[in-house]
Amino acid sequence: MTMTEHLASTRFLSLDGGLRGTLRVPGDKSVSHRAVLLGAVNEGPLSVSGFLRSADTMASVSAVRDLGVEVEEHGEGLIIHGRGWGGLSEPANVIDVANSGTLIRLLPGLLASLPFFCVLTGDASIRRRPMARILRPLAAMGASVCGRRDNTLPPISIRGGDLHAIRHEMRVASAQVKSCVLLAGLRAAGPTTVVEPAASRDHTERMIRYAGGRVDREVLPDGRGAVTVWPLETFHIDSVFVPGDFSSAAFFLVAALLAPGSVITLDNVGLNPTRTALLDVLRRMGADIEVTQTQLLGPEPVGRIVARSSSLVATTVESSEVPNLIDELPLFLLAAARAQGWSHLRGAAELRAKESDRLRVMAGILAGLGVQVNELPDGMDVLGTPSPWRAGTVAAESDHRMAMVGAIAGLVSREGVTVDDTHCIAVSFPGFMSTLRDLGAVWLEAPR
Ligand code: S3P
Repeated sequence: MTMTEHLASTRFLSLDGGLRGTLRVPGDKSVSHRAVLLGAVNEGPLSVSGFLRSADTMASVSAVRDLGVEVEEHGEGLIIHGRGWGGLSEPANVIDVANSGTLIRLLPGLLASLPFFCVLTGDASIRRRPMARILRPLAAMGASVCGRRDNTLPPISIRGGDLHAIRHEMRVASAQVKSCVLLAGLRAAGPTTVVEPAASRDHTERMIRYAGGRVDREVLPDGRGAVTVWPLETFHIDSVFVPGDFSSAAFFLVAALLAPGSVITLDNVGLNPTRTALLDVLRRMGADIEVTQTQLLGPEPVGRIVARSSSLVATTVESSEVPNLIDELPLFLLAAARAQGWSHLRGAAELRAKESDRLRVMAGILAGLGVQVNELPDGMDVLGTPSPWRAGTVAAESDHRMAMVGAIAGLVSREGVTVDDTHCIAVSFPGFMSTLRDLGAVWLEAPR
């Protein structure tokens, strides 16, 4: 990154008219990470199409290269020359996950049975993210693990061992933690179970089943889910397709609902039901959204979404819904700021442990736009205002999703919104700005 890039802040201006057009968003970040990590232990080459080339997912590519895996890059295609579980080798240096929480939580699951030493660390935001949630179950399975500050924070180290099967009960629903334990479970001496308080995204389970492995999900009498994986001798698939990222599509979806006169079509979007709760929430708020052409491409459903500008009414999002729109909750809060009445979010304390404290940052963004909010330890109350928002300023705290929320807020504000750092958007959506430009958005760049 150059000095001038560091200094640039961007003022997103109010849209002249609505958003119109058809677009495809880049590949799903969660599925791209899983394709690379499971590709590393695949028996033979795995061809990945629709891969997301972003800072986060390229950190996964570089991590598996550090473990001795050859990866060919062909635009949005990858060929991962998987080496099987026995073919990975000890990295000569620390693995740098950059900003990727998914990588630092999933890779240890893959390493937990391998007989070598590995240290993982990342940027300043990663070094604040809780790690005991994966280190404890991996230690219980038999891996030797350590982490900074009493095994709670990165850097973390891991030396694999012979693994026992465990039953792990998660206090908070987390697909990253579940996936870590399931990946280790593929190599344990018996079936491993993870109990989740609410259903979290199931991409790992789908990819394991796609390779012929066995993963079952049972609903317990108390409503929690128990996901069990059986050991799998060899992991083998020839190819996998990565659908468009619903979490990236969600920015344009919400922008279209909020900007009067908009009609937008999003093609080839991943529609895994454990990811799309935002659609249910927005429909309850009165959003005009159509979903068509749904089909299964490999392990994941994809389809087309058409969204039109809509007048929204307030709603409540409770904890049972939270995991299935965890990354879209900031967009829900933005939509709530335009909906009639008080909206409520509860059971979302996990948002404080993301790339930034997203409850605190969102409360600041909305208050800055002139919206009445009440920030709570685990959520927020938002009073929607039908009048256009006043000029705002967003300190994104290097969090890609906060910067994109700021951009969308600017398009539908009266006087524009300044975002202090848009370079972090490359973590999940490198083409975001050019897609916005294609849709007619205008912005000014200024030194801070
Ligand atoms: C992810 C799971 C979610 C999500 C993250 C990606 C994944 O985190 O916020 O962006 O790929 O498994 P948690 O499962 O920890 O909530």
